[in-house]
Amino acid sequence: MVTAKANRSDITYVSGKEVLLDQIEPVWVELNKHMAQIATDFKQHFESMTFQRRKQQLLQKAKDGEMHIDLALDGQTDKVVGYCVSTVDDAKVGEVESICVLQAYRRSGIGSRLMSSALAWIDMLGASKKIVAVSAGNEVAFGFYALFGFHVRKTVLEQI
Ligand SMILES: CC(C)(COP(=O)(O)OP(=O)(O)OC[C@H]1O[C@@H](n2cnc3c(N)ncnc32)[C@H](O)[C@@H]1OP(=O)(O)O)[C@@H](O)C(=O)NCCC(=O)NCCS
Repeated sequence: MVTAKANRSDITYVSGKEVLLDQIEPVWVELNKHMAQIATDFKQHFESMTFQRRKQQLLQKAKDGEMHIDLALDGQTDKVVGYCVSTVDDAKVGEVESICVLQAYRRSGIGSRLMSSALAWIDMLGASKKIVAVSAGNEVAFGFYALFGFHVRKTVLEQI
């Protein structure tokens, strides 16, 4: 259950499909930089990742399922200040693929609004389960996800 909080009135929200993907690039770049800083053993993964490569990965996944994109825009500038990309695959697994809100806009309910919209879309498609992968080093995000009922189930180790 998410605690209701005063939402910023200067933010507008837009939802859609893959066609919106390019609009997340500036915020994604900030997220990737942040992840490269805080990553434990896999810094190189983020340092070598480009938006075009990540975009291709997401589009490939969307081919076998569905993709949904939620954007938060600053109402004054129309600049994208946050986004959430979510998918439902052919096995009906719903995944929050990527979510980020620019630092200056955090803790005012934008992330919760994006997450709620993504989960509503995943539910609408009848997903059998919902997952989100959190990179090692970003455990601070657990508290946010716990608000939506997501908890650590297992830890996957990957060879470098
Ligand atoms: C996670 C993220 C999307 C949350 O966005 P946000 O707009 O700040 O979220 P909200 O304002 O809706 O926060 C809702 C609640 O989540 C929790 N929360 C959010 N950020 C938190 C943090 N850094 N530490 C602890 N709790 C946090 C709080 O309970 C918060 O409520 P409160 O502000 O009343 O205390 C944002 O912090 C972000 O972009 N982080 C960097 C990218 C990232 O880690 N993405 C997840 C990748 S797996």
